[in-house]
Amino acid sequence: MSDSATPRHVAVIMDGNGRWAQARGLPRKAGHRAGAESVREAVDACLDLGIEFITLYAFSSENWNRPEKEIEALMKLLEQFLKTKGKEFMKKNVRLRTIGQTHLLPDSCRAQLAKVEKETANNSALTVILALSYGGREEIADASRRIAEKVSTGELSPEDVTKETVAQHLDTAEFPDPDLLIRTSGEFRLSNFLLWQLSYAEFFISEKNWPDFNKSDFRDAVEDYSRRHRRFGGL
Ligand code: IPE
Ligand code: IPE
Ligand code: MG
Repeated sequence: MSDSATPRHVAVIMDGNGRWAQARGLPRKAGHRAGAESVREAVDACLDLGIEFITLYAFSSENWNRPEKEIEALMKLLEQFLKTKGKEFMKKNVRLRTIGQTHLLPDSCRAQLAKVEKETANNSALTVILALSYGGREEIADASRRIAEKVSTGELSPEDVTKETVAQHLDTAEFPDPDLLIRTSGEFRLSNFLLWQLSYAEFFISEKNWPDFNKSDFRDAVEDYSRRHRRFGGL
């Protein structure tokens, strides 16, 4: 049993940008732009509430299957987002980290990511983890390969491979597991997000599309979480 007053780590599936735009007769791109604005709301809510980590699902491994034009717009938006966030994150004492197969991103995005990660490395109020080109199955497969390599060189023996070993080889090795998962736009699925790490997370599904999800919605989700009784299989 554990006291679940405030989550240490919140994970968010920021879904519904396209539907938000469609409902307004706007191109999907406009929805993504509005969605980027909502990130600030979530970050500010975390800072107010004393949450230490927030992981934002921004682009999944499967999102590479979208039309080229949409991918292009998303990558451009990511680059612009990072250009403005450097300053804001420094002012707010926020550290930026990433998970996912980020080597697949365009060079211009990777350069901006590296820049902001480096700039904000010593910030300590909140860690914002962007999941980019991220898939839970891909992450577990990559970790398995790295473990297998160590076994084959003798650095690890097969009997030493425990759940801790696996966790240490995931992209999230340095972060605690999320306590709370928020998904917007009323969808009840994981869509390949943090499959390993969400084993015992509490789920909160909001009917709102991500661009409409504001600071007070985030607070409501955390308040709902604080009323949960987490048992972790015990009594
Ligand atoms: C989430 O919004 C953002 C990304 C997946 C990049 P969507 O683009 O999935 O919006 P909907 O689900 O089509 O409304
Ligand atoms: C999940 O949303 C991925 C992100 C929010 C980045 P999707 O819109 O891609 O998921 P599905 O297709 O509805 O499962
Ligand atoms: Mg979607």
